[in-house]
Amino acid sequence: MTNAKPVLVSGVKPTGDLHIGNYFGAMRQFVELTKEGKYRPYIFVADYHALNTMQDAEEMRARTLEVVMAYLAIGLDPNDVVFFKQSDVPTHTELCWIFDTITTMPYLMRAHAFKDAEAKNKEICVGTFNYPMLMAADILLYDADVVPVGADQKQHIEIARDTAEKFNRTFKTETFKLPEPYIMPDVAVVPGTDGRKMSKSYNNVIPLFCSRDELTKAVMSIVTDSSGERPENVYALHKLVRSEQELEQVYAQHNGNYKALKETLIQDLYNYFAPINAKYEELKKDPSAIYDLLEKGKIEARAVSEAKMEEVRKAIGVAN
Ligand code: ADP
Ligand code: TRP
Repeated sequence: MTNAKPVLVSGVKPTGDLHIGNYFGAMRQFVELTKEGKYRPYIFVADYHALNTMQDAEEMRARTLEVVMAYLAIGLDPNDVVFFKQSDVPTHTELCWIFDTITTMPYLMRAHAFKDAEAKNKEICVGTFNYPMLMAADILLYDADVVPVGADQKQHIEIARDTAEKFNRTFKTETFKLPEPYIMPDVAVVPGTDGRKMSKSYNNVIPLFCSRDELTKAVMSIVTDSSGERPENVYALHKLVRSEQELEQVYAQHNGNYKALKETLIQDLYNYFAPINAKYEELKKDPSAIYDLLEKGKIEARAVSEAKMEEVRKAIGVAN
């Protein structure tokens, strides 16, 4: 029964400090894609991938909980989606090792993430070099048909496809299915309070989950350029939460009054995100429900991936 629908697999790193740029640019699309009931979705917290850069136990625990609550708050359906932690399913790292043995160093050295780090003269850890192999395992264990990711992850999906082919060819088998990338439509870049791309590294974010006071503070700090008719940084955010037709009137009415326009934006953002914030606050009250959900996901993900892993062990000759 579970095989009747195409399988969707994607991972999210528990990196935290989610902002409305993440929401409009990526998170919301997961909800839309999985809500249609077209796919059998497996979504997991890529905690072992995050370990390359986040090496603090308390932070790992907190951020993992946060990311799961965030996705539930924005509407991911826990009854439909198999939601689990990568670290709860040991087949991921087991298969990663097997892929390491059939992949060459020069091949992985062509990965963008590695090349970028090298260009910056960064001392890069083995886990970062190997990142695409763990990601290939994440995807191939579930016979994924589609893998929704941002454009920056496209190469990783191509590596997963190459690795599936290489394995099948090396061991003369049909064990792995080749996944297709689903590149999420490029949503216009959401600007931050300083007009640059909203990003946690620029300190210019409007948090996805925050109090009204925090929201007010963030919006009031939006840099406005008084040369034009319309404060473009304010308008760019405004049109994400209200139709341009409605905004035409609002902006005509408060023409040149940036303070009033910002106050309207605060109210509109507040209204738009209030149900999501309320859900998040409710979820925060009962972390045990989140752990239960991850436990349920773990059981399902282990069962599915273990069956695939048994095929792999047979194909390579470590099992009969
Ligand atoms: P940050 O820049 O805050 O570190 P991430 O790189 O973690 O954000 O982004 C996670 C996802 O959110 C990516 O898929 C990215 O495309 C999307 N995203 C992040 N910031 C924006 C933005 N300002 N506008 C649109 N999408 C964004
Ligand atoms: N590398 C992805 C990112 O940074 C996260 C990720 C890990 C992932 N494993 C995956 C995405 C498997 C899709 C499928 O966003």
